[in-house]
Amino acid sequence: MEKLNTISPKPKPPVKWAGGKGQLVSQFEPLFPKQKYDLYIKPFFGGGAVFFHILPLSAILIDNNPELINFYIIVRDELQALLADLEKHQNDKEYYYSIRDLDPDKMDAVSRASRFLYLNKTGYNGLWRVNKKGKHNVPFGCYKNPRIVDKENLLQVSRVLQHAEIVPGDFSKVLDFALPGAFIYLDPPYYPLSETANFTSYTSNSFGEDDQRRLAEVFKQLDERGCQIMLSNSDTSFIRKLYKGYDIKVVYARRAINCCAEKRGPVAELVIRNYI
Ligand SMILES: C[S@@+](CC[C@H](N)C(=O)[O-])C[C@H]1O[C@@H](n2cnc3c(N)ncnc32)[C@H](O)[C@@H]1O
Repeated sequence: MEKLNTISPKPKPPVKWAGGKGQLVSQFEPLFPKQKYDLYIKPFFGGGAVFFHILPLSAILIDNNPELINFYIIVRDELQALLADLEKHQNDKEYYYSIRDLDPDKMDAVSRASRFLYLNKTGYNGLWRVNKKGKHNVPFGCYKNPRIVDKENLLQVSRVLQHAEIVPGDFSKVLDFALPGAFIYLDPPYYPLSETANFTSYTSNSFGEDDQRRLAEVFKQLDERGCQIMLSNSDTSFIRKLYKGYDIKVVYARRAINCCAEKRGPVAELVIRNYI
């Protein structure tokens, strides 16, 4: 297996993703574990900004969004077929809705991954949102010249994913893989700052208060198992109370996805760790 820290150019996250941590990686750098780790586990994988930054030699990547997970598996295992299929797409409103309205469950895995990337690159703000029936409902983005296919970057992404096990399902599957000393970064849908400021519609079942409590329970189990855990969430009294006793730091993020520009200022977020 090739050494990843020599890979050049470094891959960028291949999809734009709500809650993506790309802009925070520099603030995270001093918060990453100082103690060496052989295994990186990322439940709530999403766009994978931290994974594509640290390039671990061995990783377990988990997410309960079936389209996202299928996309990463195809990029890792069938990239040439995906690149060939992506050639067919057009940046056209009618064509967009015809692709959006396809039923992914009736598609082969490569076409399904191709549809996912196309919608991510041409849909409004790169948002992936589904309604209660699990149907994608993001409007056409009307971009002049969206870059649907970044072949060079997909090649690099595919190289680093060769070192990863990609697992569909609930975050609690982390307990099936977590070994003492492993570095685990948890980045769930955030606990809402207010009624409106929360996006959890990645899949048809949102992420509520009970899920936040369930996650805090898993955090404690991983702590008892001797893992090195870092978690991101909103700076709210609810979250501060759930993780009382652990190391809590504040970082500042710009909000990209917000319809009114004046609400796009820096927002405080928490980084919670069981190590310092
Ligand atoms: C805030 S995003 C993660 C963003 C990611 N860290 C990045 O840099 O792009 C949260 C992710 O959690 C996933 N998710 C939501 N509920 C989940 C659950 N119960 N189990 C596993 N993944 C879940 C969503 O599909 C979404 O990809």
